[in-house]
Amino acid sequence: MSTSTRHTGGVAILDYGSQTTQLIARRLRDQGVYAEIFPWDSDESRVMAIAPRGFILSGSPASVYEPDAPRLPGYVLRSGLPALGICYGMQLLAHALGGRVAGAGQREYGHADVTLDPQPSPLLDGLPTIMPAWMSHGDRVEIPPPGWRALASTPHAPFAAMGDEAARRYGVQFHPEVTHTPAGPALLRNFARAICGCAADWTPDSIIDESIAAVRAQVGDGRVVLGLSGGVDSAVAAALIHRAVGDQLTCIFINTGLMRQGEPEQVVATFRDTMGIPLVAVDAAETFFGALEGVTDPEQKRKVIGALFVRSFEAEARRLESLGHVEFLAQGTIYPDIIESAAKDRPGAHKIKSHHNVAGLPDDMHFTLVEPLRYLFKDEVRRIGAALGLPDEIVWRQPFPGPGLAVRCLGELTWERVERLRKADAIVTGELARAGLLRGDPATGAGTAQAFAVLLPVRSVGVMGDGRTYQEAVAIRAVTSDDFMTAAWARLPYDVLAEISRRIVNEVPGVNRVVYDITNKPPATIEWE
Ligand code: XMP
Repeated sequence: MSTSTRHTGGVAILDYGSQTTQLIARRLRDQGVYAEIFPWDSDESRVMAIAPRGFILSGSPASVYEPDAPRLPGYVLRSGLPALGICYGMQLLAHALGGRVAGAGQREYGHADVTLDPQPSPLLDGLPTIMPAWMSHGDRVEIPPPGWRALASTPHAPFAAMGDEAARRYGVQFHPEVTHTPAGPALLRNFARAICGCAADWTPDSIIDESIAAVRAQVGDGRVVLGLSGGVDSAVAAALIHRAVGDQLTCIFINTGLMRQGEPEQVVATFRDTMGIPLVAVDAAETFFGALEGVTDPEQKRKVIGALFVRSFEAEARRLESLGHVEFLAQGTIYPDIIESAAKDRPGAHKIKSHHNVAGLPDDMHFTLVEPLRYLFKDEVRRIGAALGLPDEIVWRQPFPGPGLAVRCLGELTWERVERLRKADAIVTGELARAGLLRGDPATGAGTAQAFAVLLPVRSVGVMGDGRTYQEAVAIRAVTSDDFMTAAWARLPYDVLAEISRRIVNEVPGVNRVVYDITNKPPATIEWE
């Protein structure tokens, strides 16, 4: 059993496989209401363990009349707690309570104007009378269950929102969790706060307090080791655990030589010098570059780096162990890494990412895991990182792959080529930071979610001064993205691109050409590899 912050008294979201289920939880938590996601067929006892004050039933690609369609668990109605069905979730409620659901004849997909019924309802309180909303459904409710009434409609859906106010059960045909439904957060807040009676007590301070209490309860007076990667998750986990158990925590930082410019120095300065956290920093660059000599295949690079990382970490952990028993291994695992999706057959949905984990430690190195960020979304991790006093450069650091610059230096990884990439990358990020474009804001699309340089093993002819050059090319990759599953190439201002290109060619020896990657994901990926 690992450390977790299990807040109680929030909303339980039952996931039926919609792509946007996570957004429901994020919209509620943004407003201070705790929400947790469970696959729809979870055990009742697991769901009730958080003492929910209400349920939200997500959308789904399924149809309620399909033979194997996911069902409404009996305890939802039996509990008598408020329930809000979204899209498929509304059809489930309608179906279970004696209403009629049918194929819509006309599929409604995309923007719709929802008109509110003149008779007010607690669910729609304070919302605009005619409001834009995002629809995505084939089926629709034809006849509501007894005791329910229409709360809003669209031209194609007479029951765009409906409810049984006495029973505190509601359904909406549209998706309040997506940004295309601007009044969606207010609707979700009405449900959680006014109808369920949830408190808005999910704040950075309360998360920190509860996490500290949980870490203390788990760890007691045991010793904890944590691998710092330079990324935000392990950094916030370290700061939190240190606050909970002080010097019982030792951090291990393996400098692979594949970090970004200034990163190793910053890790040491922040954690050891500023925060006073015991930190073992190992400069393993030579070992890594030695092992990578002649390796050009991307998968092979990853394998070599992964194996060597585990071995280096193990060596340091054993050294600490020889000074006194270490029982716990802390990791910066976050909520999206562990959410089990209800869409079991969706590609990738069931794969639990192991990027952050020191997977592959030998069996005799048995640690108990401490994972204080296990129930937190990335934005919550950043917020509590800031509240714990971590510097902006760490809190707002863009995602960086575990194998580091290895996945951005195509071809052979020599120290000289990685240095070339590191310099070019520092120019890309430095210029974007100067232009205020380094932080991605998914809501407005401003800035970049991820931006970096890629070194290509391609040489081309150029002229510099009087001479002809034959040197490598750098690609700039900059994307906007909400969840990194899809991404759009960032429309960076020409002037910024011009300055980046000018500086790279002038300041980075061995590079005479800069290109800009204008491919979205899909079909391309964010990293080049
Ligand atoms: P792709 O390239 O697949 O990347 O579009 C999606 C996101 O995942 C990051 N990424 C990684 N993160 N270890 C990580 O921790 C890895 O091996 C890895 N490979 C890709 C990538 O930077 C992007 O944010």
